[in-house]
Order: sequence, then structure tokens, then C-alpha cells
Amino acid sequence: MLFPDARGRRLRQHSGLRRMVRETVLTPNDFILPLFVVEGKAVREPIAAMPGQYHLSIDRLIPTAREAGELGIPAIILFGLPPRKDPLGTEAYKNQGVVQRAVAAVKDALPDLVVITDVCLCAYTDHGHCGVIDGHQVDNDASLDLLARTAVSHAQAGADMVAPSDMMDGRVAEIRGALDEANFGQVPIMSYAAKYCSAFYGPFREAADSAPQFGDRRTYQMDPANAQEAIREATMDVEEGADIIMVKPALAYLDVIGRIRDEIDLPVAAYNVSGEYSMIKAAAERGWIDEAKVMLETLTAIKRAGAEMILTYFAMDAARRLNP
Ligand code: PBG
Repeated sequence: MLFPDARGRRLRQHSGLRRMVRETVLTPNDFILPLFVVEGKAVREPIAAMPGQYHLSIDRLIPTAREAGELGIPAIILFGLPPRKDPLGTEAYKNQGVVQRAVAAVKDALPDLVVITDVCLCAYTDHGHCGVIDGHQVDNDASLDLLARTAVSHAQAGADMVAPSDMMDGRVAEIRGALDEANFGQVPIMSYAAKYCSAFYGPFREAADSAPQFGDRRTYQMDPANAQEAIREATMDVEEGADIIMVKPALAYLDVIGRIRDEIDLPVAAYNVSGEYSMIKAAAERGWIDEAKVMLETLTAIKRAGAEMILTYFAMDAARRLNP
């Protein structure tokens, strides 16, 4: 059927019709809220490069997490800023580390909220790389045991899910094995499977104080030019025991989200990263765009591309807009 018999506008004539044919509907259930936890008491320090986001001490984290739950957001993901850094990132896998204590406190106060932890070493190492280094190389195999210990320490603290973001080869299998051996066979792994070496992480590195002190992450994070390789990375992580596959960043990689959704038979998550958030905030501050509309359009696009869940700093704002 062609024009004038076919008219695309017929089904756009009023809001009821538009709602009936709408293919993608965002809900607070789609969101995972990232939060940054620091040592201390009564700390709620704004993160300059990410307006609306804060460094929170554990006592201040709880009310924010509670509010997220009340808004219908099912999960948070925690990032820790340790009091000290060293070459082996030992604060990452300390039983009483800042993330471990935060997890325990949130689970104690809010047992129904899903608490996910980011498993990586970059915020804990003095060199800022995601694994241990040997000279100027990141030593893949030597990093695996430390990542697995980090994941187990998070599970011991009560984490409902662990999310390795380091991009070392073989870490999903190593973490799965270590969790199973420690009797955490029920703790799922959300793997940052297709994580690109992206400049969109800039504001986060201020938030997590995790910038590499030399070089960059190109030898372990993926080349932005590659999509087929994302399928290979995701397939390996499925075979190693991942439960959820993540693509990160989201906006410049919607094609990758779509392909992974089509080709990989696991739930797909997408990380709407710090740079994506801060660009919208900055343009809105200047009055150049309508923040709320661009936010919802962006999140809808990520879901439309194929993500079942979205890690986003907009989670609370978006949930407030979506709730009746
Ligand atoms: C740690 C990690 C990063 C992000 C999540 N986990 C930074 C990085 O890889 O440099 C980025 C999140 C964001 O930009 O919002 N490896």
C-alpha cells in the first residue's frame, strides 16, 4: 500500500493512538543507579564534572538508596573511593573496605534493593590501571586472582550481583569459579563484556579518581571501531558463565547493543556513561536543550536499541518523571 492509501500520520493523530502503537515504554524497572561511596561521616560532596551526582559516605548513601527504591528503581551499583591506593589495589578486596561496608549497610537497611558492585582495580591501584602492572604492561593473568578475591569479598558483604569492568581476559570464569567455591553459586555476574576504550568516561575518572597515571586503557578495553569483536567478547563471557552482558558506553554504541541483543541469548545491559550524562547536563545548563526531554529520549533510544536494563546517573530524575 502506498500514499495516498497508506498514511503514516493516521496512527499519530492523538495521544491515545500514539500510546497504543508505542513500541518502547520506559519504566523505573529499567534503571540501575550508580553511586559513589567514600569514607567518613555526613559526606555529600558534589562531583563537579557530574552535576547532580555526589560522593556519599555510607550514612548518606542509605537515604539516597532508599529514595531510589521508593521511586521504583530495583538496583544500585556501587563504586568505592578507598582511603589509600597501592600497586596491588589491596583496598579493593579488603573485608572491611569501603564498598564492602557500604554493601552490608545498604542490605541491612534496605533488604529489597538489589545491590550490585563494580569489580575492578583502577580506583584502588596507585597507577590507576584496572589490573596489576609489570613494568608498563598490565599483567592479565596476575590480575585474575585479585579480581576474583574482590568479587568474593563483595559477595561476603552481601552483594546481590557482581559486575567486573576490568576487561581482563578470563576474568568471568575466574570470578565464577571463586564465587562457586566460596558458596556463592547464586550470585550472578553482570559482565562488562563489550567495554570500549572511550573518552566518554572522562567525568567518571574524576568521580572515581581512577585515571591511569601512565598510558591509557587501549591494551585491554575495546577499540571503538569494532563491532564484530563485541560479539566475540560477549560469546566468550557467556561461555565463561556470565548472566548478564553489558555494552558500554551506550549512545555511540547503539548498533552494538542491537547486535548483541540479536545474537546473544542473555539479558543485555547498557551503561549510559558519565560523559553522556554530563554533555546533556552541560547543554541544559546553557539553555541549549530541554534536559528532561533529551534525557527521556536518550533512555528510550537505549532501550529501543535492545537494552533490558540501563545503568544511568539519570535513574532518579527519570523515575520521578515516569512515575504518575
Ligand atoms: C572502571 C569503570 C569505569 C567506568 C565504570 N567502571 C571507568 C573506566 O573504565 O575508565 C566508567 C563509568 C562512566 O563513565 O560512567 N573500570
